[in-house]
Amino acid sequence: MSEQQKGRLLTFSILRCNPQIEGDTPHMQDFQLHETEGMTLFIALNKIKEELDSSLQFDFVCRAGICGSCAMVVNGKPVLACRTLTAKFSNTTFTLLPLPGFELIGDLSVNTGKTMRAMSERLQSWIHDDEKANADFNVIEERMEPEIADQIYELERCIECGCCLSACGTWRMRPDFLGAMGFMRLARFYMDPRDKRSDADYYEVIGDDDGVFGCMSLMGCEDHCPKDLPHQTQIAFLRRKMVKA
Ligand code: SF4
Ligand code: F3S
Ligand code: FES
Repeated sequence: MSEQQKGRLLTFSILRCNPQIEGDTPHMQDFQLHETEGMTLFIALNKIKEELDSSLQFDFVCRAGICGSCAMVVNGKPVLACRTLTAKFSNTTFTLLPLPGFELIGDLSVNTGKTMRAMSERLQSWIHDDEKANADFNVIEERMEPEIADQIYELERCIECGCCLSACGTWRMRPDFLGAMGFMRLARFYMDPRDKRSDADYYEVIGDDDGVFGCMSLMGCEDHCPKDLPHQTQIAFLRRKMVKA
């Protein structure tokens, strides 16, 4: 390809740190690539790994905005790297950092799974139903109104990427604060008629400063959720319910 046909020369300034190597300190390392048509950050990072530095660590699974594993901070904002086109940026320099608030595995790779699992256990995010009725195989499965099923489905679209948590100053400052993803998850069970937990049960989980009353309405969650989930609406919904409870 002639020099004229080549795309813009992009610089990727990437945080490098391998906690497995004793004494390794975080530092930025620059890599340069020519932009190609339809280039996403996923494509760029793979090119860097294949052609410039095979030790670079980052996570990708689906490449389609479904698995949530490729979230990272790009030019100061948490995004899904596989859904981010380089052409969307008028500048040619990209600063890539791992998502803050999660355990660092290395470079751009963080352990979101550990945080998500702890959150699931804290919220007991499974249907708490009537065990006696379940033990009877003759009981017909409960019907659900299509409107409620749609509402639950809407919240189920969360891909556990962690962008909403990293974008929340309160979550980053206060390790016990549940955070927006947790509120979204709990709201999903709250509106599920099969979940028999009472308002008082929910109050036990989120009715304090580490829960929904600790939210300072910073709205970073709403602004940076790649699935455009209705954080503001759900937090307000839970707040109202908890005030009543
Ligand atoms: Fe990601 Fe949105 Fe789910 Fe938060 S609510 S984890 S930003 S998909
Ligand atoms: Fe954080 Fe979202 Fe509340 S950004 S403070 S959880 S509105
Ligand atoms: Fe799955 Fe980006 S690789 S969401």
